Amino acid sequence: MAKRFSDPDRAAVYRAIHERRDMRHFVSDPVDPVVLKRLLDAAHHAPSVGFMQPWRIARITDASLRAALHAAVERERLNTADALGKRRDEFMKLKVEGMLECGELLVMALMDDREKHIFGRRTLPEMDLASVACAIQNMWLAARAEGLGMGWVSLFDVDEVRTLLRMPAGARPVGILCLGHVDAFYDQPMLETERWASRMPLEACVFENCWPEEDAPGGDGVNVSTVKDA
Ligand SMILES: Cc1cc2nc3c(=O)[nH]c(=O)nc-3n(C[C@H](O)[C@H](O)[C@H](O)COP(=O)(O)O)c2cc1C
Repeated sequence: MAKRFSDPDRAAVYRAIHERRDMRHFVSDPVDPVVLKRLLDAAHHAPSVGFMQPWRIARITDASLRAALHAAVERERLNTADALGKRRDEFMKLKVEGMLECGELLVMALMDDREKHIFGRRTLPEMDLASVACAIQNMWLAARAEGLGMGWVSLFDVDEVRTLLRMPAGARPVGILCLGHVDAFYDQPMLETERWASRMPLEACVFENCWPEEDAPGGDGVNVSTVKDA
């Protein structure tokens, strides 16, 4: 039987998982290129559907391009606020990105020409996106272990970012990643501190066998009654 990691190694894995935060506050010191390479390599070792490795990563080093991406996000932030109705003002008070402060800005995209990849995607084509999300999460966790913060920004018009980066038509940006040094990591999700949302109990997300009846179409919400305490 395969051996598990040593106790300190296992603790380090869970620590990275629990102490990773989506960061929006950065200090602008540069990221060591050797560390950046390790993080990109961590992303590139993510699982991917049919091993298609659909991630493409653009490192933004041109200040005017960074500013243009920021402007695109700002436009979408205002559109999102308008779409939120009653929660508009509450949303506008949230800091949703640190794009101008972070040491490194990366755009994570889906490659073009993905149609020929059928394995694992015939009925679930969105598994390419899931694979890119795995790459981002690898990088997020590794960054936390390196003492670097990362923030995933998804407030942008896809075509606008595609055009800015001169992506081929079939490619699709899925995240603008702010990466860099931070003074301190938030000790809980910032959206929780700001009372935007809170973590659901695990029991509300884990079912035994079938979906609980109360959650079936026409049901009245989350059911935790069928889940036993762990
Ligand atoms: C797919 C995805 C897109 C996200 N987009 C944004 C975003 O545009 N702006 C933002 O402030 N946070 C964004 N987040 C971060 C979430 O708000 C954050 O993960 C959540 O509040 C939980 O906080 P934590 O990551 O610190 O645990 C995104 C997260 C994911 C996974």
